[in-house]
Amino acid sequence: MALLTVLNYPDSRLRIPGVTVESFDKGVKTLIEDMLETMYAVPGIGLAATQVNIQKRIVVIDLSVEKNQPIVLINPCILDLEGQEESEEGCLSVPGFYEKIQRATRTSISALDRNGKFFELEASGLLAICIQHEIDHLNGILFVDYLSALKRDRIRKKLGKRARNAARVS
Ligand code: NI
Repeated sequence: MALLTVLNYPDSRLRIPGVTVESFDKGVKTLIEDMLETMYAVPGIGLAATQVNIQKRIVVIDLSVEKNQPIVLINPCILDLEGQEESEEGCLSVPGFYEKIQRATRTSISALDRNGKFFELEASGLLAICIQHEIDHLNGILFVDYLSALKRDRIRKKLGKRARNAARVS
C-alpha cells in the first residue's frame, strides 16, 4: 500500500472529470486500498480518485470513529435528491478552509462496489453531504465553486501563496 499525493486547489488537474471504470482488475483494487490509506492518514472522511490525479470515477468514504467502515463507490450515480440544508464543509484539496454550503438533505444513489457488484444506497445527514461532495469531485467540481467569487478568490490566493512558499523551501 502507498500514500497518494492529494492535489490542492487551485491545481487545474482537479477540474478533469473522472472516466467510468470498466474493469475491476488488481490495479483498481490497489488504487482503492491506497485511497483508503491516504484518506485515513490525512485524516479525512472522503476522497475521490480525481483528487489524487487519477481520472477514474471512484470514491472512498468512512464516517466511522474507528475508521473501519469504508464505503467504496465506483461509477456512482445520483438517483434522487431531497430537501435542502446548509452545513459547514471542508475538503482535503482545500486544506484549512471551511465554508457553509447548501446541499440536499437526503440522496439515493446507485454504484458498484470494489468487486463490480451493483448496489443502491439511501443516505441522509453527513453521509448524504459527503456523497454529493465526492461525486462533485468526479465531475471536476469543488465546494469553493458554490461560494461567491470574492470568497473563492481569497481562498485561491491564500492557497496559491502557500504552495509557492512551500516550493521555495523544499
Ligand atoms: Ni473534497
